[in-house]
Order: sequence, then structure tokens, then C-alpha cells
Amino acid sequence: MQKPSHHILVCCSFRANGTPQGVCHKKGSGQLLQKLEECLADNGLNDVMISAAGCLKVCDRGPAMVVYPEGWWYGNVTEDAVEAIIEQLAVGKPAETYLLS
Ligand code: FES
Repeated sequence: MQKPSHHILVCCSFRANGTPQGVCHKKGSGQLLQKLEECLADNGLNDVMISAAGCLKVCDRGPAMVVYPEGWWYGNVTEDAVEAIIEQLAVGKPAETYLLS
């Protein structure tokens, strides 16, 4: 089994019954998954795993996502933010503008 270089969790606000309802979902986080796939491919990052996640507990700053193993937490993520985040990931750096502190 080849392990991914990075794992990106995107809050899609899933509840225990699988229904997406929360803040990030309402702000379009589900659409970010497709954008992530495109940006990863555009930047040659073929070994990065993406997972839709339940609430990451930073709802007021959503849509939220986190990049592991670095533990870079991002908030207010838009499609433009995804482009910046993945371009920076390709060079091993966080996209400072969108980091949650
Ligand atoms: S709904 Fe996304 S962080 Fe809570």
C-alpha cells in the first residue's frame, strides 16, 4: 500500500446520519472537493488524499479544511483560496493568508 504524501480533510458538515447540514455545507464546501481535485492535478500532486469530513468545530470560520501531516488549518476557504493553498502545498509551504490561528 502506498501512503499519500498529504491528507486533506474538508468540512462538509456531515452529521451522524450522513446528512450535510452545517455552516460549511451551506457555504458550498462540497464544491471545494472538485476544485481540490482539479488543483492537485494541475500542480502534479497525484499522491494527495482528499476526504469529506464532518464538522471540524470552527464553523464560524468555515468553510474549513486541514492539511496533514503538517496540521495546517484553513478557514473561509473559497475556490480562489483552494488554488492558492494547493499552489503553496506544491512548494511545501502553507498559504498564510488563509491559515487559522
Ligand atoms: S460545519 Fe464546518 S467547521 Fe463546523
